Amino acid sequence: MWYLSSRSTQWLKVSLSAATAATAIVGAAAAVDTNADERDARQTAGQWGHARNVILFIGDGMGDSELTIARDYHVGAAGRFALDDLSRTAAMTTYSVQKDNPSIPDYVTDSAAAATGFATGHKTYDGAISVLPDGTPVPSVLELAKKAGYRTGDVTTAAIQDATPAAFASHVVSRTCKGPKDMARCPANATENGGAGSISEQMIASGADVMLGGGRQYFDQKTWVPATEGGADPTADGPSVLDRAKENGYTVVTDAAGLGAITASRDRKVLGTFAKEALDNEWTGPVATAKGTTPSQCEVNASRDSAQPRLPDMAAKAIELLDEASRFKRKGFFLMVEASGIDVSAHGANACGQIGATVALDAAVQKSLDYQRWHPDTLIIVTADHANAPQIVEAGSTSAGNTVTLITKDNANLTVSYATARTTQQHTGTEVRIAASGPRSSRIQGVIDHTDLFATMAEALGVRP
Ligand code: CO
Ligand code: CO
Repeated sequence: MWYLSSRSTQWLKVSLSAATAATAIVGAAAAVDTNADERDARQTAGQWGHARNVILFIGDGMGDSELTIARDYHVGAAGRFALDDLSRTAAMTTYSVQKDNPSIPDYVTDSAAAATGFATGHKTYDGAISVLPDGTPVPSVLELAKKAGYRTGDVTTAAIQDATPAAFASHVVSRTCKGPKDMARCPANATENGGAGSISEQMIASGADVMLGGGRQYFDQKTWVPATEGGADPTADGPSVLDRAKENGYTVVTDAAGLGAITASRDRKVLGTFAKEALDNEWTGPVATAKGTTPSQCEVNASRDSAQPRLPDMAAKAIELLDEASRFKRKGFFLMVEASGIDVSAHGANACGQIGATVALDAAVQKSLDYQRWHPDTLIIVTADHANAPQIVEAGSTSAGNTVTLITKDNANLTVSYATARTTQQHTGTEVRIAASGPRSSRIQGVIDHTDLFATMAEALGVRP
């Protein structure tokens, strides 16, 4: 249930009275044009004004190809997704840079460098979590928003410590440093060496109001206790990260029922950990093979743990909690929502897993559009960190890699080839689609870089590093 903010109520009153007046004076025929003008005016104001809220959706590995595969299969070649309603679109470049020579591009990014690009506005090397190539931390848009008084949220179907959500609320030199016991590649970041700690510890310390995803195993790891708190032996175990989260004021929920029962409160921070690692895939189906597959359809993943919340429900709950917590305040919220199963499935040449995750992301985007209807001062952005392997090829053909054939909504055969590597499929370096609607969405046009996306979000919220 959404409520009108005072600003949107005011806008509705103004717009209704203007429309009524126009109809009364010039009659019905001309009123059509007047209303159209008014819609344009509203759109223009929305595009250039500041945003109260920013909601960023990331489809991990959701390039044009992955998006088209999901479209063809689920709604048909001529079908449209909710995210297609976002009228401003652009192509976005995603390259990272080489660690030892940052002036040289790395044409194929990983999720960590890509997320650092749009979270902080800085290019970095693959594996870096919101640090420059020399290891210097750089603030994320979520952190800047939090500092400026906005409520903040970080939501994913991956482990919360996975690259994309991590880049919004932590800074380490390697994405592998997820828990206090995983610091081998980040010695300088470890607490016992005076660092800010693992990704888990930093995310808990970030104070983000809503964090939802998997990664429970990292929160269960024990932290180190400094000498000032009675510790000092780096091998001695202190409280778990989860214990520390509770100390920091987080209400912890572990399943869909717990998340559903959480009520909004101005002072409540929510941490949802719903799986040991990533949440289960929504859909399942045949994996691509060298000889191709018999045409078939995707199935709902029957072995999915039903206690886990679904992405649209997590997105809707995060919006509800952040909206409630920021109500009657001048500053709204920043929220990142990631669908991780697109990339994970594409790495495994699993077309149905990939499509199911894309469809779930679209359902989450629909939740945000429902919210934006009554809160037009909300900037919604949908994009990807990079693309992955799948390509739509001639139906029934085989390729240099593996293919799978699915029977689509159009009742036609769709053959998808995965051929970017011999075993595990790999990312590609293609530009990705970015779509937006709401204040400052006019910045999303032509060809932009992922670092420009940071600037657009920061400007929309009126924050700067
Ligand atoms: Co990725
Ligand atoms: Co990947």
